[in-house]
Amino acid sequence: MYKISLGADHAGFPLKEALKKHLELKEITYIDCGTFSEESCDYAVSAKKACEKVIAGEAEFALLCCGTGVGISIAANKIGGIRAAAVSDYFSAKYTRLHNDANVLCLGSRVVGAGLASELLDIFLNTEFEGGERHIRRVAQIAELEKGDI
Ligand code: RB5
Repeated sequence: MYKISLGADHAGFPLKEALKKHLELKEITYIDCGTFSEESCDYAVSAKKACEKVIAGEAEFALLCCGTGVGISIAANKIGGIRAAAVSDYFSAKYTRLHNDANVLCLGSRVVGAGLASELLDIFLNTEFEGGERHIRRVAQIAELEKGDI
């Protein structure tokens, strides 16, 4: 299984490329689902391709990059089983793993530089879900929302 699948639109492409180098230095395996240039494209399509790898069990996490990290996170969160967090600070990168069991990290290339993005990615990948009754219950409620059960 790949540790992480990657997706980006044209705005997020340069950040995705920078983070690929970071992953290679750390010897973390990834699958790049595109886009592969700065030619204009649509972030929902890239979100779907990368998130499908997580849902299929081919990757543990996905990393998505667009201009803000927000559009691609909104798209990703429409996919059942995806818990995507648009993050630009250390605290959120850590707690979205601890409390939300987020499986997708979304970063904005126009918001964070490659240095901060690399550290946010490291924090996200190195933090385990805390578990515990209340967090398990709340994450389960997200799945119930997807099914229309609550
Ligand atoms: C593309 O210009 C930009 O709108 C997109 O990358 C993203 O920031 C949307 O949320």
